[in-house]
Amino acid sequence: MSQSRKILITSALPYANGPIHIGHLVEYIQTDIWSRFQKMRGHACWYVCADDAHGTPIMLRARQEGISPEQLIERIGAEHRADFAAFRIGFDNYHSTHSEENRQISRLIYERLRDAGHIAKREITQAYDPVEQMFLPDRFIKGECPKCGAADQYGDNCEACGASYSPAELKNPVSAVSGATPVEKSSEHYFFKLADFEAMLKDWTRAGHLQKEMANKLDEWFAAGLQEWDISRDAPYFGFEIPDHPGKFFYVWLDAPIGYMASFQNLCARTGLDFDAFWCKDSDAEVYHFIGKDIVYFHCLFWPAMLDGAGFRKPSAVFTHGFLTVDGAKMSKSRGTFIKARTYLDHLNPEYLRYYFAAKLGSGVDDIDLNLEDFAQRVNSDLVGKVVNIASRCAGFLSKRFDNRLSAELAEPELFAQFAAAGEAIAQHYEKREFSRAVREIMALADKANQYIDEKQPWVLAKQEGSDAELQAVCSMGVELFRLLIGYLRPILPGTAEAAEAFLQIEPLSWQDLARPLGEHQISTFKPLMTRVEMAQIEAMLAASKEDLKATQPQINAPAAASNAWLEKDPIAETIDYADFAKLDLRIARIAKAEPVEGADKLLQLTLDLGGETRNVFAGIKSAYAPEDLEGRLTVMVANLAPRKMRFGLSEGMVLAAGPGGRELFILSPDSGAEPGMKVK
Ligand code: MSP
Ligand code: ZN
Repeated sequence: MSQSRKILITSALPYANGPIHIGHLVEYIQTDIWSRFQKMRGHACWYVCADDAHGTPIMLRARQEGISPEQLIERIGAEHRADFAAFRIGFDNYHSTHSEENRQISRLIYERLRDAGHIAKREITQAYDPVEQMFLPDRFIKGECPKCGAADQYGDNCEACGASYSPAELKNPVSAVSGATPVEKSSEHYFFKLADFEAMLKDWTRAGHLQKEMANKLDEWFAAGLQEWDISRDAPYFGFEIPDHPGKFFYVWLDAPIGYMASFQNLCARTGLDFDAFWCKDSDAEVYHFIGKDIVYFHCLFWPAMLDGAGFRKPSAVFTHGFLTVDGAKMSKSRGTFIKARTYLDHLNPEYLRYYFAAKLGSGVDDIDLNLEDFAQRVNSDLVGKVVNIASRCAGFLSKRFDNRLSAELAEPELFAQFAAAGEAIAQHYEKREFSRAVREIMALADKANQYIDEKQPWVLAKQEGSDAELQAVCSMGVELFRLLIGYLRPILPGTAEAAEAFLQIEPLSWQDLARPLGEHQISTFKPLMTRVEMAQIEAMLAASKEDLKATQPQINAPAAASNAWLEKDPIAETIDYADFAKLDLRIARIAKAEPVEGADKLLQLTLDLGGETRNVFAGIKSAYAPEDLEGRLTVMVANLAPRKMRFGLSEGMVLAAGPGGRELFILSPDSGAEPGMKVK
């Protein structure tokens, strides 16, 4: 085998404001398979990742939940780690971009770029929310489509007619954060001068570091011209403050890829690995980034330019994959195909999905489809029906008749040699990320192994006098072939491989070990390694995903999700004149009596004492308060609301309460010292 290589592998850093879903898993599973393969080959290989913890959506999401961004990213980080562990994504380190390492390296890179003259400064004008006092990213502005007039369109394209436009063209725009009308405001921003790196990038993108499709895509971008990149954001922002510019923060996408280095540095500190050996300009280590096709611009233009400008090495390659569709369509919350990693795990074995994705993944950037029926069929016929079946067909005889001992000699050395010889071609497919080809070769071998057993008919031998040695030899041969197949599948099915290694009583398989048969060897009693997928489990998972949708808090991370999020929150109403306000006569009132109203399940009848005068008021607060908890309390009422005749009697005013309703309703109370009848001003 070739000499041991030093390899650093990354997957894109998932945003810390939402759960891992099966779309993400295409990437983490793809990367993990490659990383496990490299390790099995005996290379010094490290796979690192982190949560991408900065940015406006995370800040707003935390605010919406009433917690600090640090608390939010801590909680989501723990969920991400648990999901990844359950899918057996074998990170060597999982860090966060909100870390000291990342702060330092981001600062270093920024300062080097600045000192080399690659940072420009200028004023720009942007939409600003005057109520929240913050600049609004495009996706937090909504309004009517300038082309078709559809309401509630976000950012720069219309979901109704498909038109694209600039967010400034939206009619009647409002801030999705507060509901206020945005105003234009200017501030100073910092720009990375990408065009300084045009020549370098043109060479680099054509020098074999990218897939062909991506290199072609980049040519389009070169033709369109490389624009300066805005790397700063104004406060309030959750991120790193720009060292020499208080009140300005690095845009999340500046420090996100640096998070790869930061996570690796964190690993180095833990293990004694040499950071510079991987990242210095003349490093002989290999660095690979796996990403989805939506973030190519960042990884194939900005990132190599930043590294180059700051005196670091550039990636050996960026590997881009396509997007996941489910049953031929984009993942959809309403169809239940927006499946969270956790929901999947509640119903199905993670090894199934790892296998299915592997069986579909090639080295290109095509989208991959999870067809749920095909998924069940493929897992059942390949894994359960072919691979695991080989072991179960042989193991029973070995345990019943031979005390789980394998024959010393191979029954069919040539067949074994054929299986062993296939290893190099399979390895080449893995190396080139042609996992579907590797799977095809492995399954062809599995067919051969089953054919062998079919021909030798151990169940017939078992009934024949004097065939013991042959029976043991045939079953041992089956187990030897099974071991090779499991070895080849090991990067894809780490959990199954581990269970198989326990059954075979062997050390974790390495690629090199594979070609040497077990020979005389004690195994343990076989336990089923995998059960069939049932359509009922898949249906239960889809149903649960629809349930998730109902339970999910409105989120403000993705444009589509954002659209509903803040609609649930009452927007701040239009402004009124002081004169209008002065018309309201708000008074402190004592709740003298509170009683249920017969025939009305939401109302309480309140007798309010205004310091002499009493009022009868029907209030819709029964779901939040028991009458006895209210009696004696002070609250605030609108005293000059025109009396309204209701089914149960006359209501002479209104008490003030906050909240969405139901149990979440809070009546207002004055501080102590206030007296019934006092006017509220
Ligand atoms: N935080 C950025 C990446 C920063 S890397 C320095 C980000 N996060 S993400 O959570 O939106 O996506 C993480 C990865 O998952 C990306 O590579 C993205 O392309 C991939 N996928 C997200 N949804 C996907 C599908 N539906 N299908 C396949 N991959 C998908 O982008
Ligand atoms: Zn439209």
